[in-house]
Amino acid sequence: MSSSVTLQQLKDELELLEVEAEKDIDKAKDGESLEKLRVSFLGKKGRLSAVLGSMGKLASDERPVIGQRANVLKSQLNRLIAERLQILNSKALDDLVEAETLDVTAPSSGIPLGHRHPLIATSEQIVDLFCGLGYKIAEGPEIENDYYNFTALNIPKDHPARDMQDTFYLEGDLLLRTHTSPVQIRYLEENSPPVRIVSPGRVFRRDAVDATHSPVFHQVEVLAIDEGLDFSHLRGTVMAFLKAFFGDLPVRFRASYFPFTEPSAEVDVQWRGKWLEVMGCGMVDPSVLEGLGLDPERWSGFAAGLGVERFCMVQHEIDDIRRFYTSDLRFLEQF
Ligand code: DAH
Repeated sequence: MSSSVTLQQLKDELELLEVEAEKDIDKAKDGESLEKLRVSFLGKKGRLSAVLGSMGKLASDERPVIGQRANVLKSQLNRLIAERLQILNSKALDDLVEAETLDVTAPSSGIPLGHRHPLIATSEQIVDLFCGLGYKIAEGPEIENDYYNFTALNIPKDHPARDMQDTFYLEGDLLLRTHTSPVQIRYLEENSPPVRIVSPGRVFRRDAVDATHSPVFHQVEVLAIDEGLDFSHLRGTVMAFLKAFFGDLPVRFRASYFPFTEPSAEVDVQWRGKWLEVMGCGMVDPSVLEGLGLDPERWSGFAAGLGVERFCMVQHEIDDIRRFYTSDLRFLEQF
């Protein structure tokens, strides 16, 4: 049997092996199948080893011919396997890149987070400043009755001051509060002095809409009742607050009239070369205290009411109050 192996047979076998190996390597789809091919052609029990094994049966001058060819074939196949592996690897990477392409210009799918409306932010800022002075937050209803909105604040029926605040009347003696001042009365009914409260909220008036008027707007009410409070406390508090909010804008107090304070003042800040009224204030009228059963000889205090829209307009250089209410995101997103 050993004598049956001829040089030509081994040459043919190497030739066949080369053709088949090249074809298989070319068709391999991944690293794993390439490794199987390497083992089956070049491994210890592979087809090339089998050829080398039968080489011993050739004449001694024939052996080097086969030996040499087998070595060349071995390194040739190793090179082809390595090249194919490289191609497969870079193709795998290309496929991955293709599959995972990130379009950086595509619109985000995230739900955008909202943020506070500028009026609410300003209102909270104002409230915070008073909280820093020891004031407590108090709130009252937007639907009020005639007594709290007017009568208890020393504005009886037929008093001309009612004309100052054109009112939305509801059924019976209910109405939409025209200012936050009724919170003073509600709070003092429930709490004995000394009190210091700050009260933010929405108010309503039958005003025609223009650049500085809106039928719904926001106020912050301030009230302090204690023993021995006088106008210097009012002025000092208001000045400290305005300085904290506006910095060094010029401020002036102007004598004024409100039925629930005596004396009363309006406060203006200078903005864009003009005086702009930002709040009303005064010493709580003794008749308001008496109406609440408080002795004006013992208790005194001051109150103030300010318009949040005005503060917000000055703070952000906004020229038209209507911008606050039109829900235009291009405007709102700036704050
Ligand atoms: N309530 C008044 C208004 O809306 C503003 C005001 C003035 C409030 C004087 C006060 C005050 O507390 O003392 O026009």
